[in-house]
Amino acid sequence: MNKHPLLRLTLCLLAASVFGEMDGALSSARANPPVIAIATAHSALTLAVGDDGRLYELGYGRIGGPLAQLQAGDRHAEFYPGFGDGYFRQAALQATHTDGNTSTDLRFARQETDVIDTNITLTRIELKDSYYPFTVTLCFKSFHDQDVIEQWAEISQDEGGLVTLHGFASSAPVFDAPSYWLTQFYGDWAREANMVEEQLRPGTKILDSDLGVRASRYRFPSFILSLDGPARENAGDVLGGSLEWSGSYQLAFDMDSDNHLRALCGINPYGEAVHLKPREIFKTPGMLWTWTDQGTGQMTRNFDDWARRYGIRDGAKARPVLLNNWEATGFNFNDETIVSLFDGAREIHADTFLLDDGWFGNAHPRNDDHAGLGDWQVNRRKLPHGLSYLASQANRRGLNFGIWIEPEMVNPQSDLFEKHPEWAIQQPHRSLDLSRNQLDLDLSRPAVDKFVWHVVDDTLGTPGVGFVKWDANRFVTQPGSTYLPADQQFDLLIDYNFALYRVMAQMAEKFPDTWAMLCSGGGGRADYGALKYFDELWPSDNTDPLRRVFIQWGYSYFFPAETLCAHITHSGNRPLKFTEDVAMSAALGVDMDLRKLKPGKLQQLASAIALYKDQIRDIVEQGDLYRLLSPYDNPCAALNYVTPDRSRAVLFVYQIKDGDDGLIKPQGLDPQGQYRVHEVNLPAGTQSRLSNDGQIVDGRTLMQQGLPAPCKKTCDSAVIELFEE
Ligand code: DGJ
Repeated sequence: MNKHPLLRLTLCLLAASVFGEMDGALSSARANPPVIAIATAHSALTLAVGDDGRLYELGYGRIGGPLAQLQAGDRHAEFYPGFGDGYFRQAALQATHTDGNTSTDLRFARQETDVIDTNITLTRIELKDSYYPFTVTLCFKSFHDQDVIEQWAEISQDEGGLVTLHGFASSAPVFDAPSYWLTQFYGDWAREANMVEEQLRPGTKILDSDLGVRASRYRFPSFILSLDGPARENAGDVLGGSLEWSGSYQLAFDMDSDNHLRALCGINPYGEAVHLKPREIFKTPGMLWTWTDQGTGQMTRNFDDWARRYGIRDGAKARPVLLNNWEATGFNFNDETIVSLFDGAREIHADTFLLDDGWFGNAHPRNDDHAGLGDWQVNRRKLPHGLSYLASQANRRGLNFGIWIEPEMVNPQSDLFEKHPEWAIQQPHRSLDLSRNQLDLDLSRPAVDKFVWHVVDDTLGTPGVGFVKWDANRFVTQPGSTYLPADQQFDLLIDYNFALYRVMAQMAEKFPDTWAMLCSGGGGRADYGALKYFDELWPSDNTDPLRRVFIQWGYSYFFPAETLCAHITHSGNRPLKFTEDVAMSAALGVDMDLRKLKPGKLQQLASAIALYKDQIRDIVEQGDLYRLLSPYDNPCAALNYVTPDRSRAVLFVYQIKDGDDGLIKPQGLDPQGQYRVHEVNLPAGTQSRLSNDGQIVDGRTLMQQGLPAPCKKTCDSAVIELFEE
């Protein structure tokens, strides 16, 4: 129980307002309390104003958990320290004021709390510099039921000229725990989302990206911080953090010699700056936090629930099953090829056909990745009847029609580059550094911004188009703009990403019924900054199911299954059943030339997709995820999803090495529930290996005694439904 009377009072007020017990006049409380609690169902971030007027943190974790005793002037606990006036570690904010003063000293000015609805409360804490007309408003949106707190800062000034910001954390909380274990998700093209955990030691550990565009290529901006030993799945104090930003980011974990840790999270200050005009507001991206004492499993369920409700588009809608042509045809197709794929798409029960790269460019046809980007006119030789013809042919067969675009990019071999070489991001006096033979367009330039929007608008406005895959295949290595003034070149990549979000937001607003997949040469954009405008993301170009088990496992910590596109392909030449079973645990699609599939295999694929749509998809996409056996530690991976009412579950088992995992114990079931055990997706002529297949078993027995592992050999797999009748 929390002993601090003021904190108790604030929490009561907050709880009352969250549950709508306060009348309208009171629901927007404007007070000046010395203690401020940002509370969710099980957690609270507790702040206090010190005698010196600065804002300090007392703790973040369990409601009523131990709070730091604030010592006046104990600056290590200052919640959002500015650079240059007494605080001597890496500050949350660094600014050069108009007169050249490089210090900022922020003092509490006021606080207000608004109840947005029964689940969301917005707290704004205004801090003002003690000398300059310079304000930082710290904003906290607390999502009560999901135990998620979203934090960002709004920075403004009225100093009569430009103020330069060199540091601009979205959030920089401090912790005082026995030990800190940090898990990151690193990788590269076709090997994304690898997990590695390490114990933090005094000093600063930085997880970052300097890529500017498609910045999660080597690591996505999410992490797990375990506060009591290595993270565990079902127990222990853990924090999940995820930055809503698609550009360069920095997650810096600065530990001092007294075991205090500050987690500075935000846009990367390295190589980036903001020139802030008077009365302009610079709003940092949001930083999402969730705290739980129930381990990483609960952390994931908090994020998943938050994402479905608030973080992505159409969180409650079933994702369409796609047939994509990329792995089947590459750039080599024409009208006839594409139309001939439609019948197969129907046969396997796909909902949407997605036409990938290669459909555009005339003077510089997009026949490979050397040319055409920027020239978004349909290629008349390949597709003489145009896109709307293809879309209508798909629609006539009951298929939605999807299209691939990469609107931020340009090939030097294009009409666009010939006309506007200055539109590409580049450095003067340096030779162009191409990657995948292309350059990024400079979205800080308004004409480019407009052009990119027109590409999106025209393509998605084509009659019959109802799905888009938005790709981005290179990052920035020469961050120069021919548009920005010489002294504001470091603003480029920040301006770029805000401009990008404006276009994405316009797309989401104008085309609310168009499904949208976020792709970036595989998983180069895996963050909730962009994902809020999309329905799903393409996690990796690696579709070999044996690798996908690991890749999907990594992503699953922060992204719900409905956002993770998983396509059945020939990659790796694995058994079809294994490939299907791996794809079924996420947003299933297919990328195969169905014309070349043997009739038996086509039938097997069709049955798997019908099963997925009828019996599995809603459990996977809307259910709670329980990770049971990690492929990092076991010869098999096992996970199950459970519907919110716990009446149905689906268990996936993937053997990634020969071996025997003993018992597999599902979780999240109703102990009293009576579940029928039913192995599904068994190819014709095969039988379940479960001794209790078809039997009814109660939830408690299933969870305590488990099922004997059905798979032993590499690439064996099982999908087991558990349902109450
Ligand atoms: C990279 C994507 O990840 C692939 O799926 C495909 O769309 C290609 N780009 C097309 O160029």
